[in-house]
Amino acid sequence: MWRPANPAKPKAGVRLCDVQELEDPGSKGFWFEEGLAVFAGLVVRQGETVRGYLNTCPHANWQLGVQGDFLSPDRRYVYCAGHAALFRVSDGKCVAGPSMSDQLYEWPVEVREGAIYTV
Ligand code: FES
Repeated sequence: MWRPANPAKPKAGVRLCDVQELEDPGSKGFWFEEGLAVFAGLVVRQGETVRGYLNTCPHANWQLGVQGDFLSPDRRYVYCAGHAALFRVSDGKCVAGPSMSDQLYEWPVEVREGAIYTV
């Protein structure tokens, strides 16, 4: 899905946090502002793997949740608080809920020397 450029999206190379700040599995949200524009993203850790997604549900384009925990109670999926959709952590594909043909919007991140950076 095409999305317009967001001036609040952080540029590549921005350090987000240490991997150790996230539980395993765990998640953390990030919020950036530029003028009136807002960029909300989240990272999810499973072991040594960290993935990033926009904090936007493809079902209704609402935020998945607040800046705290974005995982389902069993810690296996990204959870949308809007209508309880579940998304696979590995690729953001919806596996349950009203958004079954959709997937989360990727926000590329990488781990370098124990810290998570935007790409
Ligand atoms: S807004 Fe996420 S499932 Fe409806």
